[in-house]
Amino acid sequence: AAVLAPNINACNAPLNLPSAEKVFHCCAPVPSYEPQLFRPSAGSAGAAVRIRRPSHLVTEDYAAKLARAYSLMKELPAEDPRSFTQQANVHCAYCNAVYNQSGSSQRFQAHLSWLFFPFHRWYLYFHERILAKLLGDDTFALSFWNYDHHNGTSIPWFYSSTSYPYSILSNANRDAPHVLPNATAAVDLVVAPYERPRDAQLKENDNTMYRVMIRDAQTPEEFFGWPVRQGEDAKTYSGAGTVELNPHNNIHRWVGNKSSVGWKDMGTFYTAANDPLFYAHHAELDRLWEIWKTIPEHLEYEDEDYLNAEFLFYNEDAEMVRVKAGDASNTTLLGYVYEDVAMPWMEATP
Ligand code: C2O
Repeated sequence: AAVLAPNINACNAPLNLPSAEKVFHCCAPVPSYEPQLFRPSAGSAGAAVRIRRPSHLVTEDYAAKLARAYSLMKELPAEDPRSFTQQANVHCAYCNAVYNQSGSSQRFQAHLSWLFFPFHRWYLYFHERILAKLLGDDTFALSFWNYDHHNGTSIPWFYSSTSYPYSILSNANRDAPHVLPNATAAVDLVVAPYERPRDAQLKENDNTMYRVMIRDAQTPEEFFGWPVRQGEDAKTYSGAGTVELNPHNNIHRWVGNKSSVGWKDMGTFYTAANDPLFYAHHAELDRLWEIWKTIPEHLEYEDEDYLNAEFLFYNEDAEMVRVKAGDASNTTLLGYVYEDVAMPWMEATP
């Protein structure tokens, strides 16, 4: 059976917190109603098709607008499920497994299995819709941190600028050398102190992208991660897909401050989404899903237990809704597409 929406009424303490972290709560506000199933259909996401562009190519106007959206989100009262704090807590809740799966005493973990891609797609979808609503602009879209491209390997400038209005997008808990404008993100598993010269790192990035998207990711199991079904524990019974390991995990650690408790913010589940850069990182990963699908012979899961897996999110009207993994497959139905950019790594020969 599929992993159904978690039991939101019973919230536990987060699992796997670093021992130096004493108390941390990330339970969502409990609605007084039964969350209804939300299914995307043409037009349901607003008539506009939103275009997610590479962060390093956006205009200053776009960056200022993104900053305004996050200011508005941060100004919402903390108990509003659309507030930045609550948005960040969603990640902790699903990733430090505070809820039990419905009908099981097993915790709900959205990583390390086939739930990884659909969970994060839905998470970003609602996050983006909330930002758009706060701006009063139905066409507003996130941008993606295009680190698989040689021109996009540093943290996009507006996420590290200390000046108004962009500073709302910066974050004190990042690795200082990696915030520098000429830093080269490492998508593979090499982390400081084993940094490579830029040219060598770019080559390694291309090779890694080729491996995780093509050579080592030919089946749904390899790319999406292994099945997790009702009552199973993702950590025990299944495994992460190629992209979840790299670039996903490594970019998290590349950004986070490794001398902080737990490798905050980006380097650990419970605080990762406190960094606004999290959402640009995950837009890139979401885009990699779209790209993987365009490669011949790459087929998505059709297993009913995948299609019917469920998550709960608050939408842009602060209503909690239930969504299905299978409904995440088509971004056009969700109202957005990715701008095309060149992908030289497709020709890499690792
Ligand atoms: Cu839910 Cu980047 O992790």
